[in-house]
Amino acid sequence: SPWLATQTSHLTSTFRSSSFVVFCLLTPTRACDLKLPHCTVSTPVFMPVGTQGTMKGITVDQLDDLGCQICLGNTYHLGMRPGPELIEKANGLHGFMNWKRNLLTDSGGFQMVSLVELSEVTEEGVKFKSPYDGKEILLSPEQSIAIQNSLGSDIMMQLDDVVSSTVTGPRVEEATWRSIRWLDRCIAANKNPDRQNLFAIIQGGLNAELRKACLDEMTKRDVPGFAIGGLSGGEEKDDFWRMVTLSTDHLPREKPRYLMGVGYAVDLVVCVALGCDMFDCVFPTRTARFGSALVPWGSLTITKKQFAKDLQAIDPDCQCPTCRRHSRAYLHALFKSDTAAMHHITIHNISYQLTLMRSMRQSIIDGRFPDFVRTFMKRMFPSPEQYPGWAVDALGTVNITLN
Ligand SMILES: *[C@@H]1O[C@H](CO)[C@@H](O)[C@H](O)[C@H]1NC(C)=O
Ligand SMILES: *[C@@H]1O[C@H](CO)[C@@H](O)[C@H](O)[C@H]1NC(C)=O
Ligand SMILES: [Zn+2]
Repeated sequence: SPWLATQTSHLTSTFRSSSFVVFCLLTPTRACDLKLPHCTVSTPVFMPVGTQGTMKGITVDQLDDLGCQICLGNTYHLGMRPGPELIEKANGLHGFMNWKRNLLTDSGGFQMVSLVELSEVTEEGVKFKSPYDGKEILLSPEQSIAIQNSLGSDIMMQLDDVVSSTVTGPRVEEATWRSIRWLDRCIAANKNPDRQNLFAIIQGGLNAELRKACLDEMTKRDVPGFAIGGLSGGEEKDDFWRMVTLSTDHLPREKPRYLMGVGYAVDLVVCVALGCDMFDCVFPTRTARFGSALVPWGSLTITKKQFAKDLQAIDPDCQCPTCRRHSRAYLHALFKSDTAAMHHITIHNISYQLTLMRSMRQSIIDGRFPDFVRTFMKRMFPSPEQYPGWAVDALGTVNITLN
């Protein structure tokens, strides 16, 4: 068998004590245990967004019941309102949310650049006008880390200079080198390196040379983990997976890799095959009002008339609280009158993502991941002709053939 279970010991503060890791000797695919301060995280893992405002329709207790070991906190929103002082008083974001497991916070930069029109990036940081009171605010690498230190998250993200993945030219190069300089400022600013793991973010857009240069530089730093950034922004899938592969090829094997902004089931499966460990994406909770639910054969739109008298669960094989209790017909009826239907589907969606990751992990540990991928694709697409070409190509590079 090409699958090898190893014991790595004390490599970084993330793989803190000895951690269980299963590597495939022939492919980059792996399953790991990340020892984080609030509990061990089994990878590959999908991290739902867990903060007020964004987490529409699910409570932290429900997230806990679904077995979620790590969720995302939103630095930009929390840093603005209620502000880091209040959250620090509440014993950090864990205390404020009453969440007992791990939290990952973003740097705040991405939200700023994407949500606030009047933002300006200089070497100092990201300057923007507060949408709450119009005051000018500078989010520097030091400021971002100070906020994340107050929030007390288990994993913090460096402030990076974000450019859209479809931008090309000198701006991408500038942003890449600036992100490397900002990484050093973030490392220096971290007051709690013993319990707050700072992740670097690999940039470089879709330019292979630049991304490789960024990988070379950033992997010289002894950070506990790496994120692959600057993708999932509307680029071609062929560019996307090649940049993911380039990154996983050059990242140290013994540290976790977090692919930012990826959450569609097919993307998750392919990128686990390519050697990524952690994922996040806001989409399972974002467009909730359309009544669409994730299922192994794609998605199911509960508001469609065909479900009005259907007494099956959304997915009869799903063990989530929604599928155990409610039928498609009930949810269909509820949707007309009540936002509670969205809440039920959100729970199902998050459960679907977490279960998908757990089954992938189990299949890796059992040494049958390629079979898992073949079964997954067969259920997701009516026929092999419909398999996306990029997924077939990407899986081919790690010797997973689909037919
Ligand atoms: C794929 O399989 C071929 C032939 O069996 C082997 O030579 C090659 O090293 C494998 N590549 C990967 C990435 O596993
Ligand atoms: C569930 O996931 C689907 C698929 O992405 C999405 O379109 C839908 O809005 C989600 N529904 C809820 C209620 O979160
Ligand atoms: Zn369900």
